[in-house]
Amino acid sequence: MGTLSRKPVPTLWQMANTTRIGVVGGTGAVGTVTLALLREHGFENVRVFASARSAGKQVAGWTVEEATPEALGRGDIDVFLFSVGTSASRELVPHAVAGGAVAVDKSAAYRLEPGIPLVVPEVNGARALENTGIIANPNCCTIPLTCVLKPLHDEAGLVRVRVATYQSVSGAGAQSMERLRNESSDEHDLRMDWDFDGEEFDEESKLRAETRKIMELPELPIQATCVRVPVMVGHAEAVWIETENELTPERARELLAGAPSVRIEEFPSPGKAAGIDDVLVGRIRRDPTVDQGLALFIASDNLRKGAALNAIQIAELLLSGARAAAA
Ligand SMILES: NC(=O)c1ccc[n+]([C@@H]2O[C@H](COP(=O)([O-])OP(=O)(O)OC[C@H]3O[C@@H](n4cnc5c(N)ncnc54)[C@H](OP(=O)(O)O)[C@@H]3O)[C@@H](O)[C@H]2O)c1
Repeated sequence: MGTLSRKPVPTLWQMANTTRIGVVGGTGAVGTVTLALLREHGFENVRVFASARSAGKQVAGWTVEEATPEALGRGDIDVFLFSVGTSASRELVPHAVAGGAVAVDKSAAYRLEPGIPLVVPEVNGARALENTGIIANPNCCTIPLTCVLKPLHDEAGLVRVRVATYQSVSGAGAQSMERLRNESSDEHDLRMDWDFDGEEFDEESKLRAETRKIMELPELPIQATCVRVPVMVGHAEAVWIETENELTPERARELLAGAPSVRIEEFPSPGKAAGIDDVLVGRIRRDPTVDQGLALFIASDNLRKGAALNAIQIAELLLSGARAAAA
């Protein structure tokens, strides 16, 4: 967080419509969805920031301001929702926090930093209230995965998790979406467009480390193979779990049917998940290759629950926490 000192946190946020929200990265794939969802959730006092390239442009009726350290650190915003790249977040988030705001950051900059909560409200929402200015929003595959794993772990104890992802191009931002739009179907291919360390892509190690942190299972064996598919919106994940105690497919289905933000769908797909809030889960069956194993298939909207919606739910958690403290 650097050496910036922090202004006192104002007595904030009694109501969504008075909370002053700053959306940084408001012109991007996640930012534009964030703006639409803020309207749906009743947040009216919103300002939009992006790079100097976009300053003065109109987005969803708002005029974009340049996200300078001075503009973000002025102390006139309660909650910032950041969806810029990791290096821009590292540069700008500390200024927002020094101005007295809470920053919910969707990049990878702070997710694994000790002391910074990494939050999926349905899984570890209470951690959000332990923040000292920054709350990290997890990776777009980690969020739906943990929503599904949590009720199964609480019931039967996870022993091992294996995942194969099928991730849409919107997960790589607005430019990648434009590239897919302009590509002919003959050019469509699977891609692995993440940083490679010689063995794993950083997307795969993030999925492991973030899942362990959110579930508070630091030793959980978890192995992932991540792949980008030529789909515009919606990430899918094939998941194999092993549990300590017996867990039948029927009981898993019952647990997941009652889990928050999870919906049973026999055959989940990105197309079915795009544009909705819930994480879809189906294909729940025994994995006969291990003693106590299940196979499942997940699909969710990476721009909504995988990013924008999760961050807004975190802001709403802070609001209800502030209201409870004031009561
Ligand atoms: N896409 C997803 O499904 C997803 C899911 C979870 C997390 N995330 C994370 O969310 C972040 C944004 O992703 P995205 O997909 O929305 O990317 P994107 O479509 O490329 O948008 C990037 C946004 O960041 C702004 N920006 C870039 N550099 C900036 C700077 N120096 N100062 C201020 N604003 C700057 C851009 O503004 P201009 O338009 O002015 O360039 C744009 O608004 C990334 O960290 C990504 O890892 C994305």
